[in-house]
Amino acid sequence: MHHKTAGGPKTAGRVLHSHAGLSLRWYDLFSSVASFGREKLIELAAPAPGEKVLDVGCGTGTLAIAIKPRVGAGEVHGIDASPEMIEVAKKKSAKDRSDIDFQVSLIEALPFSDASFDLVTSSLMLHHLPDGLQAKGLVEIRRVLKPGGRFMAMDFAAQSHSPLGHLLSVFGHSRGERMVDKLTLKLRDAGFSDIESIPTRHKSFAFIRARLPMPKEP
Ligand SMILES: C[S@@+](CC[C@H](N)C(=O)[O-])C[C@H]1O[C@@H](n2cnc3c(N)ncnc32)[C@H](O)[C@@H]1O
Repeated sequence: MHHKTAGGPKTAGRVLHSHAGLSLRWYDLFSSVASFGREKLIELAAPAPGEKVLDVGCGTGTLAIAIKPRVGAGEVHGIDASPEMIEVAKKKSAKDRSDIDFQVSLIEALPFSDASFDLVTSSLMLHHLPDGLQAKGLVEIRRVLKPGGRFMAMDFAAQSHSPLGHLLSVFGHSRGERMVDKLTLKLRDAGFSDIESIPTRHKSFAFIRARLPMPKEP
């Protein structure tokens, strides 16, 4: 099923819009839950001065804005399928005087060249994608990462496709398939190595970290 993106690109991912009152209420709930993990995600991802970082499904840009001071003269980019989210992200970064490139685009067709990023992050985004699209998105992330580049995600530990399932997850009752196990397999299929899942202090959420192998010495 394709979702309307209110002037944005077509995707099978669930895109959040400001005119969808219910979606934005969910978004607020997710964002407040996500804030507990943001600093930990940055600590685990360890962005370093001079690095080039991409946040996929960046929403209103909070994570990208928090990463920017860590890379100094390096670059931070954020993409989201929702034009409304990107508009808010641009306003927030302008207010913060943060030099970040925010663009409306899709995880399944990233507008960046091969091997151009040191780190790709994703926060509460992958559960918005149906299985096939998740796999496609991970292949795109691999494409834009440099050899040895890192991927760092935070998401629901279990995947539920219903709003009720999400609500139960937020309050600690994991429902649905083990998202972390499925992601581990998909990351392996996409060519990642050193894949590890790291529990958060909230049992419904997990971090998942992976990296691309370095090319073999001749
Ligand atoms: C729950 S929000 C999380 C936003 C932000 N990362 C955070 O932690 O607050 C998920 C985001 O994924 C975006 N999204 C859904 N499908 C997408 C796709 N195919 N490509 C890029 N972004 C997508 C939605 O528009 C939404 O902003």
